[in-house]
Amino acid sequence: MQIEFRNVTKKYGQIAAVQDLSLAVLRGEFVTILGPSGSGKTTALMLLAGFISPTEGDIRIGGHSVAAVPSYRRDQGIVFQSYALFPHLTIRRNLEFPLEMRGARAAERETRVDRMLERVRLKEFGDRMPSQLSGGQQQRVALARALIADPPVLLLDEPLGALDRNLREQMQSEIKSLHKEFGKTTICVTHDQEEALTLSDRIVVMRDGRIEQIDTPEALYDRPATRFVANFLGEANIFENPGFNMECDVTPPLGSIAMLRPERICIATRAAPQPPDADWRQFVAGTVEDMIYAGPMRKYHVRAGRSMVIIREHVAAGKQIFGIGEKVRLDWLRSDVRYLIT
Ligand SMILES: Nc1ncnc2c1ncn2[C@@H]1O[C@H](COP(=O)(O)OP(=O)(O)OP(=O)(O)O)[C@@H](O)[C@H]1O
Ligand SMILES: [Mg+2]
Repeated sequence: MQIEFRNVTKKYGQIAAVQDLSLAVLRGEFVTILGPSGSGKTTALMLLAGFISPTEGDIRIGGHSVAAVPSYRRDQGIVFQSYALFPHLTIRRNLEFPLEMRGARAAERETRVDRMLERVRLKEFGDRMPSQLSGGQQQRVALARALIADPPVLLLDEPLGALDRNLREQMQSEIKSLHKEFGKTTICVTHDQEEALTLSDRIVVMRDGRIEQIDTPEALYDRPATRFVANFLGEANIFENPGFNMECDVTPPLGSIAMLRPERICIATRAAPQPPDADWRQFVAGTVEDMIYAGPMRKYHVRAGRSMVIIREHVAAGKQIFGIGEKVRLDWLRSDVRYLIT
């Protein structure tokens, strides 16, 4: 176990920014802390970095409590949200800084900086100032600087927050390939669900300072435990009082509510032939109230019983398109229904 939070609470006055957080991260694992604004993500990371101390509980790194270890001796590479390069130092000097702090000699610093600049494809940029680089390039420098002293642990706080969508996707691949290559235990904070799903071995979903669920991306999306997680990660149809029969194969846990992901629902004409696995399906009649076109996807809002059901389909050759007001039939596999606690 490389990193362990044991019942960690951080209070500011009466308010707990982080409440009874317990989390164990394995060596080499990529764990993302995901949650809405104010849920305690940065606080958790700052506790681990040693910039703030827990009010209660203990943090252990490599099996030892770090309560008495100051931030600069925790041997972690950190990327802050606003990449925070030193603006008055060249890229080379920015990269040398962590090595200097650890007492590396000039010759070694030079070799390491050269190698790292090459690795992040910025060889020609060493003598520039940060302000002379694009956002994505600065971001690569920030990652390079966090990695250069070869720390066993990497902490990233919203590392791609300031980038536009395309660049963010490129940088996600960059982070992924750096993680593959260097194998650092990484804790990344984000409020971007797509980033969390793409990068992580496991995701910790936080809500109001507490952990709501910890799981692999697949499990979290496919089997969210709570309504909060289902809504925070992707879109969810939640059927509390649907106005149609919600048959199922299992006995729903007491007090739970049914949930179906929009892409698990098929939309067809009322007279369409039943699919071959009809026995396991639920069929419901509805009327299209809205259709939203979104590039490769099409989203329908269908009124069925007392519910407004969201259906999401990939656009494909030959697939029928339904207009507003059209009478349709919805169907889904009963085994795709999930039960959530609220
Ligand atoms: N120094 C502080 N003093 C008082 N309250 C604080 C302090 N730092 C954080 N908080 C509070 O603790 C809670 C968690 O803050 P934190 O910065 O960890 O949130 P976050 O999940 O990182 O949010 P964001 O996505 O907006 O960055 C918030 O309600 C915040 O107002
Ligand atoms: Mg934050």
